[in-house]
Amino acid sequence: MTDTRQRSFEDNDQKPMGFGRMLRKEDPRFVRGRGRYTDDVQLPGMLHLAILRSPFAHARIVSVDTSAAAALPEVKAVITGADLAGLGLAWMPTLSGDVQAVLATDKVRFQGQEVAFVVATDRYVARDALELIDVEYDVLDPVIDVRQALAEGAPLIRDDLDGKTDNHCFDWETGDAGATAAVFAKADVVVSQDLVYPRVHPAPMETCGSVADFDPVEGRLKLWSTTQAPHAHRTLYAMVAGIPEHKIQVISPDLGGGFGNKVPIYPGYVCSIVGSIVTGKPVKWMEDRSENLISTGFARDYIMRGEIAATRDGKILAIRTNVLADHGAFNGTAAPVKYPAGFFGVFTGSYDIEAAYCSMTAVYTNKAPGGVAYACSFRITEAVYLVERIVDCLAYELDMDPAALRLKNFIQPDQFPYMSKTGWEYDSGDYEPTMRLAMELAGYDELRKEQAEKRTRGELMGIGISFFTEAVGAGPRKHMDILGLGMADGCELRVHPTGKAVVRLSVQTQGQGHETTFAQIIAEEIGIAPADIDVVHGDTDNTPFGLGTYGSRSTPVSGAAAALVARKVRDKARLIASSMLEVSVADLEWEKGSFHVKGDPGTAVTIQDIAMRAHGAGDLPEGLEGGLEAQICYNPSNLTYPHGAYICVVDVDPGTAVVKVRRFIAVDDCGTRINPMIIEGQVHGGLTDGVGMALMEMISFDEDGNCLGASLMDYLIPTALEVPDWETGFTVTPSPHHPIGAKGVGESATVGSPPAIVNAVVDALKPYGVRHADMPLTPSRVWDAMRGTAQPP
Ligand code: CDP
Repeated sequence: MTDTRQRSFEDNDQKPMGFGRMLRKEDPRFVRGRGRYTDDVQLPGMLHLAILRSPFAHARIVSVDTSAAAALPEVKAVITGADLAGLGLAWMPTLSGDVQAVLATDKVRFQGQEVAFVVATDRYVARDALELIDVEYDVLDPVIDVRQALAEGAPLIRDDLDGKTDNHCFDWETGDAGATAAVFAKADVVVSQDLVYPRVHPAPMETCGSVADFDPVEGRLKLWSTTQAPHAHRTLYAMVAGIPEHKIQVISPDLGGGFGNKVPIYPGYVCSIVGSIVTGKPVKWMEDRSENLISTGFARDYIMRGEIAATRDGKILAIRTNVLADHGAFNGTAAPVKYPAGFFGVFTGSYDIEAAYCSMTAVYTNKAPGGVAYACSFRITEAVYLVERIVDCLAYELDMDPAALRLKNFIQPDQFPYMSKTGWEYDSGDYEPTMRLAMELAGYDELRKEQAEKRTRGELMGIGISFFTEAVGAGPRKHMDILGLGMADGCELRVHPTGKAVVRLSVQTQGQGHETTFAQIIAEEIGIAPADIDVVHGDTDNTPFGLGTYGSRSTPVSGAAAALVARKVRDKARLIASSMLEVSVADLEWEKGSFHVKGDPGTAVTIQDIAMRAHGAGDLPEGLEGGLEAQICYNPSNLTYPHGAYICVVDVDPGTAVVKVRRFIAVDDCGTRINPMIIEGQVHGGLTDGVGMALMEMISFDEDGNCLGASLMDYLIPTALEVPDWETGFTVTPSPHHPIGAKGVGESATVGSPPAIVNAVVDALKPYGVRHADMPLTPSRVWDAMRGTAQPP
């Protein structure tokens, strides 16, 4: 559905009074090097903290001798797990209700685990002092292969948990096993495929860190930290450390990317707090790149079996999957409590089917805590990969065009709101126009002709499609909470006497441009220019409570809160305008930025006039308080379900098996578009991420549990050289329950692009009889696929 109103937003100039293209308000500070990140925080007398990490994946700690390190004059404290145990702080809850060691006391359970820390007068001395700590380990057999974690006699990793006798983390299922089996039994065609979504790392440009400043006189803690969820972190610190919540201020300053990596609470944050309490000085902890890559939240790590049942003419009937999920040594996932497998339940994708079923087993292994939602709404990336790959496997078996197969099976516009077979209510969607637009932009038929011709010459060209539906905007409080904290978001708006405004958000930007787009939402609703609206975020003392930014939830939840708080202010402004113009409220007409008497535009009072009257001298209407401000806590009634159609064109060199992404067409539908320029930026970044995951990125381990992706020399991430010029388009299907019809978009491209790229590579290899190859599709993997010698990763 094309929304004509939307077209006019697209055409706006660089200074829209509301939605439209607009340069980012925050960029002047970033391009001038004036961003203020956690590592820029310098406090008088500040000390520096370094963490000693385990060289082993699994080992018992026999003894820790810190005396030589403690003897250095510049060293102010050396703390071990035993010290923390004495304070009751050796273990902390994770956001998924597991417990994780802050510093190991009994055993180390992954290579890189935190064992002790040093606080010293500078970063270099602190690091050197780590060398002087003598730890005696009794090395144990590690569990590295996830398939072996539940085998008879596998070493027990979590013997800290009462009654634990195996490496089970959790079991989970969704859908209807019986109904799905019945549909599979009657289907003409059943295709099954094993798929691996390898362990990858979000690898934000800025690593994690914190500066803790505990004031023993006031009993007050000020913590700057690289967090995507300052309010949730503050509550947890209060619960764990016993510092009253009102005495904790968490500040999340500028963040150099998050991508889910900055959602969990890491031991380093807690260590910096302990360090500051113990020394009485501010203490800074900042990871280096390797520490970030080996010890902080990983993503994916799913081994999936996908099965799809269909009629011979390509009607998809059912999808079934079984998943083995590697959660590492501690379950570090941050997912709503009721959803231990995140939103993987949307694995039925964009298709109208009769039945679906998923069973999942999650296990512990001797690897760093895993399962963070890396640029996706809680496991949607894995779900989309599963369905979009398995649909392509079906197309292969039916010898059917993958675009035609998808078009034949889409949920139809009149079926929305659509209840999926796993219980997700898709709010709105109109899939065929999005798909057709992508095909038109790609020149799909021409591409197929070109491919056929190239195949006659032995050239390997592939065209891959992915069509995704996401579920973003967690979430309705009745279904969603993290450790008991409901996922609603607060928002506060104040209009100052001169008509300038400040909006305070509970979400926290990590580069997505919130300072611009949230000002645009307010501008759209009350007609104050975005330049005149200050956006405050990332400081628990100065913003209302809310659960933070991840899973593309900011626009669906806080964006809605911003629109509604502005409407509350506008409602009050209307009452004041009626008294100023001496007419009844019913006789007033709103035109963005002013009220006038119906039929008489010359009588207008602007929002600025009203703001001055709200704060100034003179009477206000009976019973109305002065000031022009409002506060709201928004509890979304549903998630929003953005969708998109992606088409990737690759060339594979038959001699070297190197994949070149030649073209990529991305058509996204995120409902009402607030700032198309920012959306394009989000999509470009996500597509680049997708190239990384599909072709380059994997954190692997050797049999002893040594992490083989501990630096960016080994863990490849994409650069501008590996990606094409992105070709983007859009359709607009507003969300019916969101006040401005917007859906999230920040992660659509990361979610949607890997299957398109893999489908393209597999399509290129069709002449070799290849139906599937696992990511990352490095030249050696592609080479093996061509020769039929691929091993499961
Ligand atoms: O939660 P996060 O900010 O990562 O994701 P998001 O809510 O999808 O928003 C990412 C950026 O795109 C924000 O600056 C949004 O305001 C902007 N956006 C937009 O302009 N229009 C939309 N319909 C959705 C997001």
